[in-house]
Amino acid sequence: MHFARYDRIVAHYPSMWPLLVPGYEPILNAMLDVVEVRDNKPRSILDVGCGPGSATIAVAPACHSEGRVTVVDGSPRMAAAAAEMLDGYIRDTFVGDFTEAGTADCVFRDATYDLILCSFALHHLDDGTKRRTIDAMGSSLQPGGLLLLADEVVSDRPAGWEVVERIRGRIIQKHLDAGDITEEFWHLETSLEPEAQLPFLPTRIDDMVSFLARAGLAVSCPVSILGSALLVALKPK
Ligand SMILES: C[S@@+](CC[C@H](N)C(=O)[O-])C[C@H]1O[C@@H](n2cnc3c(N)ncnc32)[C@H](O)[C@@H]1O
Repeated sequence: MHFARYDRIVAHYPSMWPLLVPGYEPILNAMLDVVEVRDNKPRSILDVGCGPGSATIAVAPACHSEGRVTVVDGSPRMAAAAAEMLDGYIRDTFVGDFTEAGTADCVFRDATYDLILCSFALHHLDDGTKRRTIDAMGSSLQPGGLLLLADEVVSDRPAGWEVVERIRGRIIQKHLDAGDITEEFWHLETSLEPEAQLPFLPTRIDDMVSFLARAGLAVSCPVSILGSALLVALKPK
């Protein structure tokens, strides 16, 4: 996979991504809510496709003060930003494609983590690769551990009416008109050479639930907001 898209937007990501992906911010807030009501505060955390560490930062107030996080990202600049943001709380930083054996073998270790975050990092993968990644995350959870999987999902189109896409389009257009989405960021996002563009492959929510269940996890009903979803999955003890 080509990571140039993410490498070049790292400085803009924390302020621009919430404007580009309606539902992103409420989903991150919901992750914190979920971790806050755990009986045990997470101490061994894995952030898959960490970007600049956004999901870990979102749940950090509910994690153990001695908790440490392993981060992985294919974009060297994103991984470096995460390592800088989470300075002092990092166990390992891996730069590489988590769908490839070399990186996956380092990151996905049997029964190692009590919290795995995978936030908006799977939507470039086909369903088979998503399933393998979810299986690996399931194996890496300690018994009783929690997986929070957030991502963009396929939007239903009642009678062919693409309601969610239209609402998202309007929201993004309002941010563009107001100048909240900056011209510099928009230019970076819209001027990628074709070979560096990443496929957008959202999966149906019910398929995601099924992938998690078939990885041996107990899955909640998803929280879904305008095409973004949070799935809460527990590894049985
Ligand atoms: C949309 S950002 C999400 C960042 C962060 N998790 C968040 O919630 O804001 C997706 C990140 O996943 C990384 N990523 C996507 N697919 C990956 C893969 N196969 N291997 C490693 N990193 C990947 C990208 O480089 C990017 O930094």
